[in-house]
Amino acid sequence: MSFPTHRPRRLRRTEALRGLVRETRLTAASMIYPMFVCPGSKVRQEVSSMPGVFQQSPDQIAEECREVATLGVPGIMLFGLPESKDPRGTSSISAQGVVQRAIDAIRKANLDLIVITDVCLCEYTDHGHCGVIDHGDVANDATLPILAEQALSHARAGADIVAPSDMMDGRVAAIREKLDEHNFANIAILSYAAKYCSGFYGPFREAADSAPQFGDRRSYQMDPGNAREALKEVALDLEEGADMVIVKPALAYLDVIRRVRDAFDVPVAAYNVSGEYSMVKAAARNGWLDERRVATEILTAIQRAGADITLTYFAKDVARWLAP
Ligand code: PBG
Repeated sequence: MSFPTHRPRRLRRTEALRGLVRETRLTAASMIYPMFVCPGSKVRQEVSSMPGVFQQSPDQIAEECREVATLGVPGIMLFGLPESKDPRGTSSISAQGVVQRAIDAIRKANLDLIVITDVCLCEYTDHGHCGVIDHGDVANDATLPILAEQALSHARAGADIVAPSDMMDGRVAAIREKLDEHNFANIAILSYAAKYCSGFYGPFREAADSAPQFGDRRSYQMDPGNAREALKEVALDLEEGADMVIVKPALAYLDVIRRVRDAFDVPVAAYNVSGEYSMVKAAARNGWLDERRVATEILTAIQRAGADITLTYFAKDVARWLAP
């Protein structure tokens, strides 16, 4: 039974037919928009390697959040650029910290928006690593209490979800315990469970001013060659109490997204990271690629691979492109 009985082209004849049988539908409702908050007020500075993405003070963040909500993007992920850095990332746990103040400004704006915070030390430490340093090494266990305090201070400020991205072992359990102790049992944990050591984070380190000042992150982020290990990382984080998990980056790890999706029945998020965004922007600026077409294709692929949620700097654009 084949040609001429079967002609797959019959269902590709018109856009109405193609739309009817489309298996994966890109939606803004499943996207999260990452944002960068810096000190001050009225500050809005474009990140040179990420056109359209800004470092902004809390007042400006709240304004852009209004736009995000109006477009139908359900949530944001907040990253902080603190006033000061030290070896232990102390500024990350201050009630007056940049992220905490941004959450406050967003809450005061009374927006219908899910506020997720990135929980990590790299933006707050003077050495730029995601944990504290002990004898030249990133110390796992000594970092956990600081991460838990940071998550607690985000919850106190009004975050809905905390998202640890440091890749220390045991941090999900430490954060869950801390939140529960302080009556934040309803705050969810979105864990960056399978986070690879990736060159695609390059532009982010400019955006968040978080490049490591020595060495690299290979001793805590995952090796790009490993997929089975991603399943182990996800299993451990779920056992520790994660509600949802992230695979990151997305585009070079579509197989990992699929395997995680197939193996676990929790919401799976994929992070379409800074380098994935900047590549498309740069090529489009050169006239080499059609930005809208390529971004749509990439984000469709991420959803087709199994992501329920996509964190992407294209979130606002997609909402505009998909608007009726
Ligand atoms: C670490 C963190 C990073 C990203 C999100 N959280 C950078 C890193 O691990 O070096 C990358 C996000 C992106 O590239 O868009 N706090």
